[in-house]
Amino acid sequence: MRGRFITLEGGEGSGKSTLLKELAARLEAAGKTVVCTREPGGTALAESVRNLVLHPPAGQHWSPMAEALLMNTARTDHLEKLIRPALERGDWVLCDRFADSTRVYQSVSGGVSEDVLKLMEGFVVGETRPDMTLVLDAPVEAAAERREARAGTADTFEARGHEFHEKVRAAFLRIAQKEPARCVLIDASRPVDEVANAAWTAVQERLDIKAPATT
Ligand code: TMP
Repeated sequence: MRGRFITLEGGEGSGKSTLLKELAARLEAAGKTVVCTREPGGTALAESVRNLVLHPPAGQHWSPMAEALLMNTARTDHLEKLIRPALERGDWVLCDRFADSTRVYQSVSGGVSEDVLKLMEGFVVGETRPDMTLVLDAPVEAAAERREARAGTADTFEARGHEFHEKVRAAFLRIAQKEPARCVLIDASRPVDEVANAAWTAVQERLDIKAPATT
């Protein structure tokens, strides 16, 4: 039986990575084999593309169209080498960002038209659409504090201003509202364990996971 494909989406600093680890632990405790991965990235080649797109040489910028193509290049390799084989083995794939991030980031602020992005997504993703997407939503100010608390230099998107991040938040909310069969909106402004419990409840309900047997 094909495994399950769960994606986590939301603005930077919304707590996706922390939630992904927590969900993986709970799924493993429920007897699932879990593959944790991220986009852009997840394979050696896709990680090289990640570095290229998120950290262009000083003073250089990719256009939104070039970004969209690079994200989809990385995604193609990721799907071919990691995601599809894992799903065929029956594993559960948890992915930190996927195609919704391209829809959002490469279209906001006068980027690529939604029609063009949709076409690319159709070719690249094909039938490998997520079974479920957790959309983490938090006020931009709270997320900015979490981003600033993280070590390392800001990438090309993190470094953009408040207005950009507000548009990103609104665009993710629109996707969650438009596709309720796939997406679950999670209020990520709550304490970490409350967010994890809400997400876990949604995963159990939607993907029919039985609690592990206690002896
Ligand atoms: P993060 O996964 O560490 O948050 O960083 C990845 C950054 O890449 C984030 O700012 C969103 C951006 N991104 C896109 O612009 N398009 C995409 O398709 C994906 C997957 C990520």
